[in-house]
Amino acid sequence: MVLEMVGVVGLGTMGAGIAEVFARAGIRVCGVEADEVALARGRAHLERSTGRALDKGKLTAAEREEILARVTLTTSRADLRDADLVIEAIPERMDLKVELFGELDRICKPSTILATNTSSLSVTALAAATGRPGRLVGMHFFNPAPVMGLVEVVGTVVTDPGVVDEVAGLAVRLGKSPVTVGDGAGFVVNRLLLPYLNHAVTLLDHGVAARDDIDHAMKLGVGLPMGPFQLLDLIGLDTAYEIMNVLFDESRSDRHVPSPLLRSYVAAGLLGRKSGRGFYGEAGDGPQDKAPARTVRVVGSPELADRLDTAGFKESDDPDVVLQVGGSLPLSGNTVRVRLSGQVAELAVSVLTTQEAALGAHGLLKIAGYTPVPCKDRAGLVIEALLFSHLNDAVRMYESGYAAIDDIDAAMRLGCGYVTGPFELIESIGLATVRDGLRALHAERLTPSSAPAPLLDQLVTAGLTRFPRP
Ligand code: 3HC
Repeated sequence: MVLEMVGVVGLGTMGAGIAEVFARAGIRVCGVEADEVALARGRAHLERSTGRALDKGKLTAAEREEILARVTLTTSRADLRDADLVIEAIPERMDLKVELFGELDRICKPSTILATNTSSLSVTALAAATGRPGRLVGMHFFNPAPVMGLVEVVGTVVTDPGVVDEVAGLAVRLGKSPVTVGDGAGFVVNRLLLPYLNHAVTLLDHGVAARDDIDHAMKLGVGLPMGPFQLLDLIGLDTAYEIMNVLFDESRSDRHVPSPLLRSYVAAGLLGRKSGRGFYGEAGDGPQDKAPARTVRVVGSPELADRLDTAGFKESDDPDVVLQVGGSLPLSGNTVRVRLSGQVAELAVSVLTTQEAALGAHGLLKIAGYTPVPCKDRAGLVIEALLFSHLNDAVRMYESGYAAIDDIDAAMRLGCGYVTGPFELIESIGLATVRDGLRALHAERLTPSSAPAPLLDQLVTAGLTRFPRP
């Protein structure tokens, strides 16, 4: 693909990041914004981002100047007449995008490829609204665009042969890994990521656990790069809510019902980093240290017992708190069920648990070197409830024929910074463990989507420990 100049329309967080990616790859960029104020904001974004790389020693001052010099900024769409590719990253409104692509269609030369960075709208509908449906594709970057390694390249039923491959080749030239996907709502990443984030909001809304505790659980207990609320603030709560609506419209699945709490944040204008406040941003109470219980009995974890013993807590037959790790002893007021995952200790508080025991257990686990995550004693607590449902979605996606296992794994690693993709994760946890965890969740919730994906169930029944790969 001959690529002398690329146009980027819309220089918000994503558009400015995309312009930077092209300029860093040595390609001339023409960035277009609606007015001078928006243009100045886009310019500031580019300067901040490359300045940060300069401060970190990732760019020299001369390289930074070269990158910035490759980007021309304008308010005139007519300046895109010579562009070989134009990618739009304007607000997620169909009417705005249809109008923009209609105009680009008239302005640009016939060979120009038009691309949309939409995260939720139908690429097919956008293509069909232009006079060149065969040359309009999705080119979906991930936030922060200069960092995340994935580009989803979205072809439609009307895309000309070769165009998807050309755009995928271009993504490689940008130093990104392309994954080619069909035009289904949310493509691969958002279709998996957003229901998981929405689920986290539901747990918060239902009082299962607090914001920081859920974030700690998923970051420190699972090893994800960010907690769900940190990530929602990065993505933008309005974007997240919009994607959930599109997913729900397409699937009508209980899994995709947008959380009312998410809707409330959006209605209140608390959109995350872009508005200065989302789930984070208000002055919180900060972490509070809880006094540990004085006497303890640990059931089911010699390691935890040892750690507490070393810290000076002797086992007692008549303890203030019983820490029960696994197992199914009948619970009493001073028993707290504990699940250890990495450095996280989920503390399940049942209707019987006294507040004294809950606080005392919290203090003990902290002293033992864990990050306590207090939560209601519900199936899956926080980690398995969120993670296993998320993994189940990935199996269902593969089972539906929408994407291949390796593409799903690669997309989540490169697009969201996961250390391992969902299928690799299920295999390392154990297919049977995940299936059984899902069965427990389903027994409690009885929602259709919480049932283990039939494929997972079948593989476990057949005694297999890996997913079939070609
Ligand atoms: N712009 C440019 N560079 C940035 C950046 C930004 N906004 N934020 C971080 N970076 C760079 C840093 O400069 C650093 O670069 P270096 O390694 O060359 O020095 C690197 O990223 C790592 O940054 P930090 O050390 O400051 O921070 P972390 O190690 O915590 O990593 C993160 C930050 C890369 C954002 C990481 O937390 C992560 O991978 N999070 C997951 C993000 C994710 O899931 N994104 C996808 C969201 S879905 C989406 O965008 C689709 C849309 O349609 C909704």
